[in-house]
Amino acid sequence: MACLLVSAILFLTQSQGGVLERRHLDNGALLETLKSEVGLLSNKSEHYSAQVRPPGTSRQIPQTIIIGVRKGGTRALLEMLDIHPHIVVAATEVHFFDWDENYVKGIDWYRSLMPFSYENQITIEKTPGYFTSPQVPERIHDMNSSIKLLLILRDPTERVISDYTQVYYNRLESHKPVQHFEDIVIKNGALNAKYKAIQRSLYDIHMERWLKHFNLNQIHIVDGNTLIKDPLPELQKVEKFLNLPPRILPSNFYFNQTKGFYCIRSDGRERCLHESKGRPHPVVNTTVLDQLRCHFREHNERFYSMVNHSFHWH
Ligand code: A3P
Repeated sequence: MACLLVSAILFLTQSQGGVLERRHLDNGALLETLKSEVGLLSNKSEHYSAQVRPPGTSRQIPQTIIIGVRKGGTRALLEMLDIHPHIVVAATEVHFFDWDENYVKGIDWYRSLMPFSYENQITIEKTPGYFTSPQVPERIHDMNSSIKLLLILRDPTERVISDYTQVYYNRLESHKPVQHFEDIVIKNGALNAKYKAIQRSLYDIHMERWLKHFNLNQIHIVDGNTLIKDPLPELQKVEKFLNLPPRILPSNFYFNQTKGFYCIRSDGRERCLHESKGRPHPVVNTTVLDQLRCHFREHNERFYSMVNHSFHWH
């Protein structure tokens, strides 16, 4: 009923030619932020990525994969886990299981992209597109049916806005036309459910596919909203899930007022994620926001019961 009311208000707003309040993003400054999708300029795993093999190391197929979700905080999670001495991470997104042209290259090709590691270290790669790609769960299961998977999720409506914002900047960089958020999300007065960013936020639909191939206890869900506000407890849960000794400490994080996010302190260095992570979002019309939240509500409830955990998303 509440959702119907929101739709009616939305229709009236649009048909009366109401101008939606939007905060225009500052194009010039934002172009700067498009330089890289890689979060940090340098990290511990760089050392292990070298072409020359350090004695006693080898390249390992990942024992753990961060499968998504896109814009969930996957880069932050990977870089923060890289603090742990028993973890090494692949620097770039590999897209082995979701891109057929990579998958046909075979498992040795996949391994060759991993950093060198010692026997007691866990190799982690992250490709956020895995979570929403239909063919991926079966392919990962074929490789290793007992693998441990990490999935970081955030409020689905926030995720849509973040997804839109990333595409917005990418289009600016390549001099393509951009559209306002509301003009993409609402078509003819109704929610545009075909919008890819909305479909990616239907977590229950994607999770259902994963649970056909993996037990729930193989998939650890990181709360992306909590990771932003207070990273350590979320990382400690991951350490437990991976059976690693607790090595990530409060002193590994400091809040950077300018960035508005936590940054990392380790190996005597301080570093924040790349400026393309944690960008300003457009201010979205509240009726459109309500419409989105209505759309996700049932899907969220279904997701909570699938994973036996409530995330209290809007
Ligand atoms: P926004 O840029 O929309 O704020 P991903 O790495 O999966 O693309 O996710 C990007 C999101 O990670 C960012 O989305 C940001 O909200 C979130 N994030 C979480 N912790 C962060 C941190 N410490 N620094 C910067 N961004 C962080």
